[in-house]
Amino acid sequence: MKLLVTGAAGFIGSNFVRRALADELPGVEGAEIIVLDSLTYSGNEENLAPIADSPRYEFVHGDIRDAELLDELMPRVDGVIHFAAESHVDRSVLDASIFVETNVLGTQRLLDAALKHGIGRFVHVSTDEVYGSIEEGEWTEEFPLEPNSPYAASKAGSDLIARSYHRTHGLDVVITRCSNNYGPYHFPEKLIPLFVTNLMDDKHVPLYGTGENVRDWLHVDDHCRGIALVFAKGRSGEVYNIGGGTQLTNVEITEKILELMGKDWSYVDHVEDRKGHDLRYCVDITKIETELGYTPQVPFEQGLAEVVQWYRDNRAWWEPLKERAALA
Ligand SMILES: NC(=O)c1ccc[n+]([C@@H]2O[C@H](COP(=O)([O-])OP(=O)(O)OC[C@H]3O[C@@H](n4cnc5c(N)ncnc54)[C@H](O)[C@@H]3O)[C@@H](O)[C@H]2O)c1
Repeated sequence: MKLLVTGAAGFIGSNFVRRALADELPGVEGAEIIVLDSLTYSGNEENLAPIADSPRYEFVHGDIRDAELLDELMPRVDGVIHFAAESHVDRSVLDASIFVETNVLGTQRLLDAALKHGIGRFVHVSTDEVYGSIEEGEWTEEFPLEPNSPYAASKAGSDLIARSYHRTHGLDVVITRCSNNYGPYHFPEKLIPLFVTNLMDDKHVPLYGTGENVRDWLHVDDHCRGIALVFAKGRSGEVYNIGGGTQLTNVEITEKILELMGKDWSYVDHVEDRKGHDLRYCVDITKIETELGYTPQVPFEQGLAEVVQWYRDNRAWWEPLKERAALA
């Protein structure tokens, strides 16, 4: 089996490829992988350095919007796992155009190429942010899509286009909607790595608004196992939520990071809230648990402590990225 994995020089896709090539993901053991990534500011080939010499791996530097390139790659693969996206909400608030270009148009180009070349399974990696915000309870996959940020709206657009290629053309599409990922190799503009690396350098951390926003935290290892299960056993045309089962307010997660870093609240700057900041996300994961046997396996406290240690051990990885993205 040969897979095209888009966006795998980023955080989650690189985890998927590293672990798939180490045969740690059930359902894709032995797979050969072509990675397609245009290496935007958040893509980094270093993320794939541990498997760079694998005979089952090939890296193609290119854009998912490049139909000619897709015509070359698609005939060589049996399935697609589509991670590539613009992924940072704050950037979409400043300028949404590239989000629509990459997330909506790019996904449509990929789906078109998959259809044209008779690709088997196409897993589209979406997000729980497509549902909007929920004050109480949990979203099942049946909930309406009410995205609030331009990022989430562009992901909802691509999610629905992926669904339409199944309904209209019968393409074997399965969609996953996951909660907030954390883990190693996470670009240091996102909350956990930004806070950890700032505190390592004795710098303050910015907490949006009152910090009452609630997020479900999912270890990237659990997420990638869920995606592999969906690829191997998910039902065609279906949507599967993937969550981690740990809901925390931003105040609570800040508290935990401060504790692990040996710092106190004097290091926290309360900054103006993000525009349209969703209050609470919470996914119901009953469907993937009962149908595919998924359960989150990494306990949050252990996962977070390991992530902090990873950033302590890998300054050479994150420091240049922070400087490049002017986050330092
Ligand atoms: N990180 C999270 O917590 C989270 C949560 C829910 C869903 N997701 C989704 O998971 C996927 C991966 O997220 P991530 O956190 O790894 O993102 P990331 O920003 O770390 O990686 C995205 C990758 O896509 C590549 N890319 C961007 N535009 C491209 C293009 N036009 N052509 C080819 N490659 C391109 C980038 O170079 C980068 O390597 C995204 O689709 C995202 O929406 C992420």
